[in-house]
Amino acid sequence: MTTGADIPALVTDIPGPASRALIDRLAARECPAITARRARRASALGAADDDPIVWASALGANVIDVDGNRFVDMTAGFGVASVGHRHPDVVAAGCKQLQTLPHVMGDAFPDKTRITLLEKLAEKTGFDRAILGSSGADGVEAALKTGRMMSGKSGVLAFGGGYHGLSYGALAVTGYHREAFQGPFIDQLGHHVEYGKFGGKIPDLSQIGTVIVEPIQGRGGIVVPPPGWLGELADRCKAVGAVLVFDEVYTGFGRTGDWFGFEHENVRPDVMVLGKGMAGGFPISAAVGTAEAMDAWGASQGEAIHTQTFLGNPVGCAMALATINVLESVIPKVNETAEWFRGLLAERGYTVRGRGLMMGIEINNALAVSRGLLGRGFIVLPAGEQAEVLALTPPLNVIDSQLVSFLDALDAERT
Ligand SMILES: Cc1ncc(COP(=O)(O)O)c(C=O)c1O
Repeated sequence: MTTGADIPALVTDIPGPASRALIDRLAARECPAITARRARRASALGAADDDPIVWASALGANVIDVDGNRFVDMTAGFGVASVGHRHPDVVAAGCKQLQTLPHVMGDAFPDKTRITLLEKLAEKTGFDRAILGSSGADGVEAALKTGRMMSGKSGVLAFGGGYHGLSYGALAVTGYHREAFQGPFIDQLGHHVEYGKFGGKIPDLSQIGTVIVEPIQGRGGIVVPPPGWLGELADRCKAVGAVLVFDEVYTGFGRTGDWFGFEHENVRPDVMVLGKGMAGGFPISAAVGTAEAMDAWGASQGEAIHTQTFLGNPVGCAMALATINVLESVIPKVNETAEWFRGLLAERGYTVRGRGLMMGIEINNALAVSRGLLGRGFIVLPAGEQAEVLALTPPLNVIDSQLVSFLDALDAERT
């Protein structure tokens, strides 16, 4: 049905009848806060029919839904399918691992893939040690705990518009849509977090032990801080002994044209959080850090004080290793594709934020436009507190013709 390099082909209305029927079943059985059938969206669009499509398969930048419609995924599945969906090398590595050892025992008994991955992460990031997890939020939790261990202080500085995940520790530092995300839980979130303005004046850090920041805000609207701001933040942290954490869950693994976002500004944090595109589709994450930061935890006393059942899952480790290997040949071409595409967008009068293939197209009513684009065969999400941009994070090896067809659809949707 697809080579992975195809432009959209729709055979039903969007969503089609099979998607609608499945979403009815989903809505009956899933917590209503999760199913993406939202009154909020319906009212913003002035239309009641806002069901999602149900995915059946995916390859490269293409997604096929249960009605047989073919889409181009301009999100890479929330930035996960960095080397494209179902990359053959990544699938092969995962299948091979599934057939030999799908599970080991977290901190108690490791296997060799975990050790190889930790060595590979050290080689690619330049950070000495890591704590593996299963989600981006897991990585953030590990990074925040590392900050507490290393600095000895409880105070944390986070930034408005920053998104770090929704588990309790991560939620406490998530400034994006704070009222909505934190509101119902605010009395269980502690009082250790202060918020600064992303890209703005850096507050007094004397009471702060950990500073957590995205080098480019993703969900917050693809916002790049002013040049030098991250460097100033790093200097201020150093001056007071605060631990600097870069949350590179979104920006990591080639998304911005370099392996990691920090390389653009040449500012090294103490700890960096990785996730999303790390394993091309398997839920795995890491908090990587300097030896000084990680060794602040002290040695295990037999009972690991930070672990989880699936820590270092071998299938995830094998897929991450394969993904990193594919990225070696994909990342060097990201900037070229991005510059070419940016040029086309500029020619057609669009204002674009971001870096590499992490782009935000400034547009009125991005929510409605994204819905319209779905109806034309493109999966794309709005971002920003006011949904002020269309966020584009396609697979890093997206095909030129897929990008051009997206532009044509965007033009048609805009007029
Ligand atoms: C920068 C950043 N950090 C952390 C997270 C949380 O990751 P997860 O949803 O895998 O927990 C996200 C998710 O979008 C993110 O963009």
